Amino acid sequence: MPTSFGFTKVAEGSKQALVDDVFHKVADRYDLMNDMMSGGMHRVWKDAMVSFLAPPRADKSGWKLLDVAGGTGDIATRVVNRSNETVSAVVCDINESMLGVGRDRAAKAGLSKLITFSQGNAEDLPFPDKSFDAYTIAFGIRNVPDIPKALREARRVLKRGGRFLCLEFSEVDVPLLDKVYDTFSFNAIPVMGKWVTGDGDPYQYLVESIRKFPSQERFAEMVREAGFERVTYRNYSGGIAALHSGWKF
Ligand SMILES: C[S@@+](CC[C@H](N)C(=O)[O-])C[C@H]1O[C@@H](n2cnc3c(N)ncnc32)[C@H](O)[C@@H]1O
Repeated sequence: MPTSFGFTKVAEGSKQALVDDVFHKVADRYDLMNDMMSGGMHRVWKDAMVSFLAPPRADKSGWKLLDVAGGTGDIATRVVNRSNETVSAVVCDINESMLGVGRDRAAKAGLSKLITFSQGNAEDLPFPDKSFDAYTIAFGIRNVPDIPKALREARRVLKRGGRFLCLEFSEVDVPLLDKVYDTFSFNAIPVMGKWVTGDGDPYQYLVESIRKFPSQERFAEMVREAGFERVTYRNYSGGIAALHSGWKF
């Protein structure tokens, strides 16, 4: 079955290696480029995601987060800080280069005991059933070749009563903003990427992959099809990003 790697059709089996190559290339400059590409907005959206998750503030029960495609650990760090360092988090990512940057950041922040880093594929998570209280994935799922499989894995590793949250670039629903956003994305982002990292191609992929991702409604349907209940979503910045939520009961 062919799948999309940005705007290019590739065999499903070859997509992951192409994605991995993108993130190996950008890992060192990933955090800087995130700020530049989004004008710092990714921080606001991630803060909003963690507020919506509302992790316990003073946990004594062993509450545990799994942040998949967690890269350099932005979501895990926020969740652990929000809990006053009383919960723990596992950052799972397929890419050792991204995990390496995350490990260093956690060590510098003194959070290595609470945040652990584990290499693994979202489609085949290396964790037992029902082992986490919450599952988050931020700007990660559009990179995964088989999204329905990753969603079923998310549900499998959650405990009953567990929460699924997915933050992803989405479909802009504000007239004019869509045109401005398109022009900025396709012109400025690959150029910025080339300037900062020396290679614009990974950023061309990032922009194209955003356009290929399903609409908010369609993705909500996919989350429901994976067995999640009470599925809702909210748009951020006119739909530039959207947060999908679901529960495992
Ligand atoms: C755009 S980054 C997002 C990183 C982080 N969540 C954030 O919001 O800053 C996408 C991440 O997805 C990871 N990824 C891609 N395919 C994956 C897969 N099949 N399983 C797990 N992680 C994957 C990449 O290695 C990369 O770190």
